[in-house]
Amino acid sequence: MFDVEKIRADFPILKREIYGKPLVYFDNGATSQRPARVIAKMDDYYLNWNANVHRGVHYLSNVCTDGNEEARRTVRDFIGAASEKEIIFTRGTTESINLVAYSFGERFIGKGDEILVTEMEHHADIVPWQMLCERKGAVLKVLPFTDEGVLNLEALDRLLTNRVKLVGVVHASNVLGTVNPVREIIEKAHAAGAKVLVDAAQSIAHTEIDVQALDCDFLAFSGHKIYGPTGVGVLYGKEALLEEIPPWQGGGEMIREVRFEKTTYNDLPFKFEAGTPDFIGIIGLGEALKYVGGIGLKAIGAYEGELLKYATGRLLEIPDFRIFGTAPEKSALISFQVGTIHPLDLGTLLDRMGIAIRTGQLCAEPIMQHYGVHGMARASFAMYNTREEIDIFCEAIRKTGALFEGGKA
Ligand code: ALA
Repeated sequence: MFDVEKIRADFPILKREIYGKPLVYFDNGATSQRPARVIAKMDDYYLNWNANVHRGVHYLSNVCTDGNEEARRTVRDFIGAASEKEIIFTRGTTESINLVAYSFGERFIGKGDEILVTEMEHHADIVPWQMLCERKGAVLKVLPFTDEGVLNLEALDRLLTNRVKLVGVVHASNVLGTVNPVREIIEKAHAAGAKVLVDAAQSIAHTEIDVQALDCDFLAFSGHKIYGPTGVGVLYGKEALLEEIPPWQGGGEMIREVRFEKTTYNDLPFKFEAGTPDFIGIIGLGEALKYVGGIGLKAIGAYEGELLKYATGRLLEIPDFRIFGTAPEKSALISFQVGTIHPLDLGTLLDRMGIAIRTGQLCAEPIMQHYGVHGMARASFAMYNTREEIDIFCEAIRKTGALFEGGKA
């Protein structure tokens, strides 16, 4: 039984007031909140167990190493990977994608090769590929989406030439909410001889992911969007592929033997983890995944789907309310404009009413260009949000509209 009030009680910050109003936190696409047990777990390690991992023979070091490696196994099971060797800890989605752009790029990308991304990627799944293309003389191609916010799969067949070496595709768009048919895209890409990186930053907390069923080559996500700490993320890669590509950052831990003449590298996954990792963050991420696993992503997805349906219906009753992204498969976020009100004005006024939303270009300027707008406002929901909060939000938007439009909204 999905009990939203019980879940809310796990998140101390949700009891806060902002400007004397109960907090309505609708900026989960940017970062989610953390349950007390994740913070307590990290506090416990900082207060009682802290010592560097994989380096010490002493007790505390071994406790932290065990915690770090247990978290790796938790991630492995959470995304259905075949082995913990396929789980690389990074700083987040952005670093995971940069790692692939460098290491895969060094090994497999040459002049005239193509990288294919979609028009609905956020900047982290665009810029690293552009930098790679500049380094190697490769070409970045773009798969467009329709105004509804659906990828044009007919264009995919045309764009997937044998020059394409890698496809970068977002699982759920942070602006449009569209949940892309990644399984189908992966199948087509593989048939054309390309590898696929799935950006799961916005989907990891909302839908079940099984990397083996998807058959993706790489998958990236961040801890802080799934109720875990900031500064920690994951890169999943198929073991054989990770074996083939060179390390990215050099330093301690990623080496086997260091000689001035030549250095050899460590086994997976450590080959890609140079330097002291954020092991307490990693342990916190493991705790967050156990917490989410205990509630169940099926139940979470169903509840959030209901919230999205309710919010969409209520918001469309508001005059001049425009939603960007109306794909049939959509995750629980709504990007919007209200009449001619500037999104920043809207966000600022809602803030004074205790409501936190995201405004601006949403780290996805090409999507803004697609619709010819300078910015949007976005409400993104999480499993602890409620219909009552959506009612407060709708009322606040009506009030704001009335302020700007002389009572029109
Ligand atoms: N890309 C993140 C967002 O959509 C930061 O807010």
